Amino acid sequence: MTIAGNWKMFFGPEPMELADLDAIVAPPYTRLVDCVEAGLTTYAQNVHWEPQGAYTGEISAPLLLALGVRGSIVGHSERRQSFGETDETVGLRTRAALDAGLHVIACIGETREEREGGEMENVLRRQLSVLEPHPNLVIAYEPVWAIGTGLTATPEICRDTHGFIKTIIDVPVLYGGSVNPGNAEALLSQPCVDGALVGGASLDVESFTAICQTAARIHS
Ligand code: 13P
Repeated sequence: MTIAGNWKMFFGPEPMELADLDAIVAPPYTRLVDCVEAGLTTYAQNVHWEPQGAYTGEISAPLLLALGVRGSIVGHSERRQSFGETDETVGLRTRAALDAGLHVIACIGETREEREGGEMENVLRRQLSVLEPHPNLVIAYEPVWAIGTGLTATPEICRDTHGFIKTIIDVPVLYGGSVNPGNAEALLSQPCVDGALVGGASLDVESFTAICQTAARIHS
């Protein structure tokens, strides 16, 4: 069971307060060192496919590894929607990061229109087509309609969609989208749900701790 906190572009909590948790944190770049030094399993929120070069604003796997960063989120829907991320670049980033020795949480998920239009399976299949199983690869299923909206996929949607994803790629699948201490138990106890990628609730030490404790209880 993996619990990861995506701090997005927020300053986030004091890393030392999270030191006892069995969790991954993905802070903004300026806080990576603080998190690494606090002993946290620290991931970046993005990673470029080239090891170095003239790519202003990007960061590479070797640069992250040199800092003690252990992995990266790739292909978050906010990057797909607002920063031109495509399935092709998700594939490039993921392969390069894994080859360099980073772990990767690759994000997939359909929009509300795609789900309501019956396109969910096609969209997920297309997003997964650029990814191959790897021991250090984890998928995060984050339905776009559930991110930051307070709308959560029901436990049944989670179970069915994760089951579908696992028929295509046999790696752990995390759920992301408005996970909080109140719904974590129902979501995390579904078959095929191997953990959670938590946004808003990971910025609050108490909430994130409660979610991690729920995960540990279900796992034991
Ligand atoms: P929220 O938990 O705030 O909905 O964000 C989910 C997410 O995007 C995690 O990557």
